[in-house]
Amino acid sequence: MSQDGALETLLHEDRVFRPLPQMVIEANANPQTLDNARRQAAEDPLAYWEEAAKELEWFKKWDKVLDESDAPFYKWFTGAKCNIVHNALDRHIKTGNKNKLAIIWEGEAGDSRKMTYFELYRAVNKFANALRSLGVQKGDRVMLYMPPLPETVIAMLATAKVGAIHTMVFAGFSAKAMRDRISDAQPKVIITADGFYRNGRAVHLKSLVDESLMGPDCDSVETVVVVHRANVQVEMQEARDLWYEELVRAESSESPTESMDSEDMLFLLYSSGTTGKPKGIVHTHGGYQVGINRTLNWVFDIKPTDIFWCTADAGWITGHSYVVYGPLIAGTTTVIFEGHPLYPQADRVWDLIAKYGVTVLYTAPTLVRMLMRFGTQYPKKHDLSSLRILGSVGEPINPEAWVWMYKNIGRSECPLVDTWWQTETGSIMISPLPVSVLKPGSCTKPLPAIEADVVDEKGNPVPPGKGGLLIIRKPWPSMVRTLFKDPERYKKTYWEKIPGVYLAGDMARKDEDGYIWIQGRSDDVMNIAGHRLGSAELESALVAHKAVAEAAAIGIPDKIKGEVAKAFVTLREGFDASDDMVKELKIHIRNELGPVAIVKTIEFRDKLPKTRSGKIMRRVLKAEELGQDVGDISTLED
Ligand code: WTA
Repeated sequence: MSQDGALETLLHEDRVFRPLPQMVIEANANPQTLDNARRQAAEDPLAYWEEAAKELEWFKKWDKVLDESDAPFYKWFTGAKCNIVHNALDRHIKTGNKNKLAIIWEGEAGDSRKMTYFELYRAVNKFANALRSLGVQKGDRVMLYMPPLPETVIAMLATAKVGAIHTMVFAGFSAKAMRDRISDAQPKVIITADGFYRNGRAVHLKSLVDESLMGPDCDSVETVVVVHRANVQVEMQEARDLWYEELVRAESSESPTESMDSEDMLFLLYSSGTTGKPKGIVHTHGGYQVGINRTLNWVFDIKPTDIFWCTADAGWITGHSYVVYGPLIAGTTTVIFEGHPLYPQADRVWDLIAKYGVTVLYTAPTLVRMLMRFGTQYPKKHDLSSLRILGSVGEPINPEAWVWMYKNIGRSECPLVDTWWQTETGSIMISPLPVSVLKPGSCTKPLPAIEADVVDEKGNPVPPGKGGLLIIRKPWPSMVRTLFKDPERYKKTYWEKIPGVYLAGDMARKDEDGYIWIQGRSDDVMNIAGHRLGSAELESALVAHKAVAEAAAIGIPDKIKGEVAKAFVTLREGFDASDDMVKELKIHIRNELGPVAIVKTIEFRDKLPKTRSGKIMRRVLKAEELGQDVGDISTLED
């Protein structure tokens, strides 16, 4: 996305869109609120965060808002006792939200389930008791390999309720990718489903768990809990595998919520980095809830009557924060869809909005571009008048897609908020509010108390219009705490390249008005359809194949997916470059990493460009591929 023509459009984009007066009058945070918050946060950021924290319930108040004594291992709300599940669930049972819809779920075939907060509360308690009966305790890891189902939410909340740590693996990852995560996280229990429906097919899931558990380093797993969904054939291993329904049936629907330290781990979520090994990103109970609560109320202006639909899968951070925890903390109704957005035809998203009266739609540019291809015939078939706010996340949104969405889905009335953030940041960092003046393609300005800037490699701010590295100067409550079992990598990756500031790994530019325009990753991480994939991960998958001697993977621009991967491969003696080999390698990558790793092209080479010390120079391949200047190649081997 960063190097193609779309960037050109971004550079010349000068349209602005203003909010309707009614929006400004009714907003949870109006321009005045925002200005005041910005001023307050600039003077005293901790007072700003303390006020935000007071909107939630704590079992015991904090002694200190921020402990910087072991920076960059920042600690927030130290001394406080809490549990995110208390705020997401328990407290609603005592208020008017008890009988409100918490979840609207739709299966791909059109089947639907709805759960009130009280029903969800009872289901979570039953499963929490079941987890305790399986020996799950505070600090234990519970792995989820789940499709989008109400039980996915139940399992996350039940795990957190008993004080254990959930770590979710997106169902589009392979058994092998799951095994790597099992070996790192050492979970006691895995929760999965027999299968699920996607694109008209029943996808098997449990069999992949079986496969991954055949590997080494999986001894920590004592129990596999299986949710019935697709009625596909599964093999249940006695003593290890249990059906969810049988497990919870006899459990009580009351269960105590564990009192946690603010800094106790809530979840671990693996994300691609610049090495072959994904990073285990750690989030905690206390600060995380403060960040998502504030952003949901301000950025999405949540009101009691809203029906909130974030189209992300719960397996990604966007799903954690804005399908599950955020909406439930806010006491709103969250919509979950199991299937493919083009199934059975390209109006499924619009159909769901009309059917459930969705008021806030939070989605990804990839999906917008995919649906845009079909023109306006499909949105026109449905009543989308319930919508009042649109949101975008995951990749830069090109102005064409932005304007299409704004006009054809939002009737030129609904603000479209482009929200920048990351797995590491936990919640939205740079984003307009619905009352802001919008420019298509810009995520506008940092939220209050977020000191984001664009700097050069030494950390000096770059002038407006010039590209640079995106950094954040001050810590914030929902930030990543460390990388699981690898604190050194945490320090090195984020805090040391430019000492003392958080390095996001993105390139950006600021315009004359201080608006920020994200241009894409600055490191060797690709962003394919809004999903992060490391070049190194793809390369290590490729070289694991017997025919491959060396491999280099780069991201190249794609009209729909933003970016797709292209791999350059040298083959070992005795193997031939052929179409069959391309097919074989593509299947191999799918087996290694899962369908989430989309490699569009594989090109065979006799040799790859390398530095004299033997490092493959991806940037040379990328420049060649895009017909750009190769830059400094003085370190090139020959
Ligand atoms: C990219 C997803 C442009 C960015 C929440 C970031 C964006 C990575 C935007 C994080 C946006 C996210 N505009 N780019 N609004 N939002 N990104 O960890 O490159 O899956 O670093 O978190 O997505 O991806 P992650």
